[in-house]
Amino acid sequence: MTNSNSGSVRFEGVVKKYGAVTALKKLDLDVQPGKLVTLLGPSGCGKTTTLRLIAGLEMATEGSIYIGGEDVTHLTATYRKVSMVFQSYALFPHMTVRENVAYGLTVKSVPKAEAAQKADQGLELVGLAGYGDRLPSELSGGQQQRVAVARAIVLEPEVLLLDEPLSNLDAKLRRHVREEIRQIQQRLGLTAVYVTHDQEEAMAVSDNIIVMRNAEIAQEGSPHDLYEKPNSEFIADFIGDANLAACEIISTKGETASIELDGQKLTVPYLGAEKGSAKLVLRPHHLSLASGKNAGIKGEVTYAAYLGKEIQYTVDTPIGELFIVSNVISDPFTKGSAVSVQLDADKARVVTA
Ligand SMILES: Nc1ncnc2c1ncn2[C@@H]1O[C@H](COP(=O)(O)OP(=O)(O)OP(=O)(O)O)[C@@H](O)[C@H]1O
Ligand SMILES: [Mg+2]
Repeated sequence: MTNSNSGSVRFEGVVKKYGAVTALKKLDLDVQPGKLVTLLGPSGCGKTTTLRLIAGLEMATEGSIYIGGEDVTHLTATYRKVSMVFQSYALFPHMTVRENVAYGLTVKSVPKAEAAQKADQGLELVGLAGYGDRLPSELSGGQQQRVAVARAIVLEPEVLLLDEPLSNLDAKLRRHVREEIRQIQQRLGLTAVYVTHDQEEAMAVSDNIIVMRNAEIAQEGSPHDLYEKPNSEFIADFIGDANLAACEIISTKGETASIELDGQKLTVPYLGAEKGSAKLVLRPHHLSLASGKNAGIKGEVTYAAYLGKEIQYTVDTPIGELFIVSNVISDPFTKGSAVSVQLDADKARVVTA
């Protein structure tokens, strides 16, 4: 089974106001068919609002919304081919698992036998074949969430919306269920818009991530791009671990900047035209340590944690405390060692606020 209905989602200048509150400032969005795009950002930034606008549960104050190329701006939820999986999976407790999955189909007047058959196919897709006769209370949290996913996909939506679908699950299950959701989405070629405020979860499941902040898009890109090419201090800090060292931009040229860091001049990647104070983004695994006799940023190891495959160091330096992850596990530096930190300027990046 593949979903031949998968549609694109496009927002053009969508604004959403609730009275005096602007929940979304002019938002442009483009989700390609068959892709999973995640809306990521801190609480209150407008993620759920965006999903509800796609679903037709809220109407845009300004702008246009297209699903599968069709202008749906003024269509209510009933007329949009969209299914939503909620944070609280909200299964009907008195119905069997099969009846829960079939529910949306029966509402759409699909004959009972056909609805039950489709429900069983849906349950098989999420790895719950044979669970149809149970009650939701007889399933684990992860299984219940998979039932909620099955219930959404049997409707063969053009777009599947998921709002923090894992937040009711414990950490271990979360990882397992997110992998399953991603596999089902890829296998069926579903277009999906996924909401989370957990950056690791976003990195793990997404083709593209849209990071939102204060009712607008802060940056959009593949997990790799956001990690390697953050466009602001906010993104650098939000996506993955980063050391942010204060530096001064002396001049810029093309996509590079000359900066001064700890009295040294360096040329590093930069997208922007501003000069003045900035932050140098140094990812923990892009830094390495050499003995203090070598050239580099002088420092002292204040913490060393051996984790089997890697060693994590905290190093006190003139540019601040640096967190460094090293794959060199033979002959580790110990606490108190004088070291020099080596940085690869090509892998560093300068950002402004
Ligand atoms: N029905 C409403 N009436 C008034 N304001 C609302 C309404 N719904 C949302 N808002 C406001 O709009 C903004 C965006 O809310 P939204 O629910 O989209 O945030 P979110 O990114 O999903 O946050 P969270 O991570 O906490 O779920 C918030 O400031 C919120 O208070
Ligand atoms: Mg929300």
